[in-house]
Amino acid sequence: MNNGQRYEPLAVPRRVILGPGPSSANPRVLRAMSLPIIGYLDPAFFELLDDLGGMLGEIFKTNQRAFAVAGAGSAGMEAGLVSLAVPGDTVIICSYGYFCERQIIMAERLGFNVVPLRTEWGKSMEPQVLADALKQHPDTQLVVGIHAETSAGTIQPIEEFSRLAHESGALFMTDVVTSLAGCELEFDAWDLDYAYSGSQKCLAAPPGISPVALSERALEYIRNRPTPPSSWYLDLSLIADYWGPDHIAHHTAPVSMIYGLREAVGMALNETLETRWERHEANAAALRAGLDALNLELPVSESDRLDQLTVVKLPKGVDDIKLRTQLLDEYSIEVGRGLGQFAGKVIRIGLMGESCVPANVFALLNALEKTLPEHGFEVANGAAMAAASAQLAKKPSPIYSA
Ligand SMILES: Cc1ncc(COP(=O)(O)O)c(C=O)c1O
Repeated sequence: MNNGQRYEPLAVPRRVILGPGPSSANPRVLRAMSLPIIGYLDPAFFELLDDLGGMLGEIFKTNQRAFAVAGAGSAGMEAGLVSLAVPGDTVIICSYGYFCERQIIMAERLGFNVVPLRTEWGKSMEPQVLADALKQHPDTQLVVGIHAETSAGTIQPIEEFSRLAHESGALFMTDVVTSLAGCELEFDAWDLDYAYSGSQKCLAAPPGISPVALSERALEYIRNRPTPPSSWYLDLSLIADYWGPDHIAHHTAPVSMIYGLREAVGMALNETLETRWERHEANAAALRAGLDALNLELPVSESDRLDQLTVVKLPKGVDDIKLRTQLLDEYSIEVGRGLGQFAGKVIRIGLMGESCVPANVFALLNALEKTLPEHGFEVANGAAMAAASAQLAKKPSPIYSA
């Protein structure tokens, strides 16, 4: 009975989300998002912004500016690019994956003189490549390098990139969409100028808001640049002013998203960052032990790989779409597809934030063990679960009691 209403309440399937993002959101975060709306200029909301700014500072490990851009991680990306260089400026973009290519597209649209440094996907970029490019382009205004490339499953030496950029007098901007709260990140100690993230990965909140950190040096640059950023909405100095002590009005803030972000960040700080990083490490190690036991190939070398996202090469003859569809239909497990040059060749398994627990490792290994033989790839029965168990016995996952 629908009481004559045209629309019943919305229903969605319950999934185990083990893709590259979003990951699941904790119920405490979802509850916070259902709190009553208050005004974005209400003193009670300013108090929340002040608290959250400090909490984000702890997450980014910075005593400089930490706040959030209203929009997806890509809004944080575009805000950095539009704010930190002016049209015609030389901008070096280190490129080793799909999201680096997105930065190049944005930077070209903004009219920068873009110098892409393309290196092999699936590997960490040698800092020497950047050092050489900076020698060739000593007038570079901005260097951009992603910390954790989710499309390729790699971690990158951004501390070194930042040092080289500064030696050459450039600013350094990074993408920590997948790394924030999932592995070591030190905004101040690594002397970064701008880092943007997403709420939907290791922070375990829904997608739609981009936590960021900004150095005083970068803020100073934006305030004094010859022309203001061409986007008013994404001008980082205006957003920083709304989050700053004077709370100067900007656009209407996404109140419920900010409640959710506050709750998610609070939970991450309750767990402690170090324990959260350890949880990501332990579960990724267990997953990889299980995948090895299934004889699946991991194309990224141990030193270059991310814990949050594991790239798995599809065995010969296994169809990407059919495998992922079966996992979704029969096990309600989502894993990610390959993007760009990895499309159709790999699947990507995310263990991030809320989704990063041993139960999910076992659920996925069990599902792969059952499904792969149906796709013509024989596996040893029980070997993956045993290998993951043995690995967790060696390096247990800290209990996640949100
Ligand atoms: C490394 C990286 N950067 C940027 C993005 C874009 O974030 P969003 O989809 O929230 O715009 C993603 C999304 O997966 C990502 O993994």
